[in-house]
Amino acid sequence: MNLKLIVILLAGLGIGGASAIALLPSAQQALFPNTKTRTTGKALIGGAFTLVNHKGQTVTDKSYSKRYKLVYFGFTYCPDVCPAGLQTMTVALDKIGKKAASKVQPLFFTVDPERDTPAVMADYVSSFHPTLVGLTGTMEQVKKAARAYRIYFAKVKSKDVPGEYTVDHSSFFYLMSPEGAFLRHFPHSVSPEVLAKALKALP
Ligand code: NI
Repeated sequence: MNLKLIVILLAGLGIGGASAIALLPSAQQALFPNTKTRTTGKALIGGAFTLVNHKGQTVTDKSYSKRYKLVYFGFTYCPDVCPAGLQTMTVALDKIGKKAASKVQPLFFTVDPERDTPAVMADYVSSFHPTLVGLTGTMEQVKKAARAYRIYFAKVKSKDVPGEYTVDHSSFFYLMSPEGAFLRHFPHSVSPEVLAKALKALP
């Protein structure tokens, strides 16, 4: 485990901890007895975005308001974490059958818009579930979406290939309601069975 991975894991624990606290006011009270209990009960994950899908069409958070959303941030050059996570998502969606899967819109947001053009995204998402939508845009648009979802990402020089870069990023699945409210998150290492069970249980 290298330092970067530890930093990502710690950032992840931060997000997980924050959402757990936001969802459980009593837990917040126990941990921080002197702070006021949050009454909205909503985690601050999610929000407005404007991006371009893998077909080159401009879309916003409102474009997917009829379905639950399974959100994942990553990039197509990611050597292992992203493909493994998206494969898990694909297996889970296949497992629950067409009817249940039709309630869920899987969204893959890139954190590497310089390389992940709509054409590159189209090619990439075709390797996974047929309903998976790839989202890219300008760096500014991508940063705004990542900020809304509390996603950490940073470009770092590749150790293996001189002149190349990779992108460190947090790797969670976020399950969002049709209205765009945060419901829960899963680590990218979630098993397809656990993810399928959660998706199948959606009302
Ligand atoms: Ni990745």
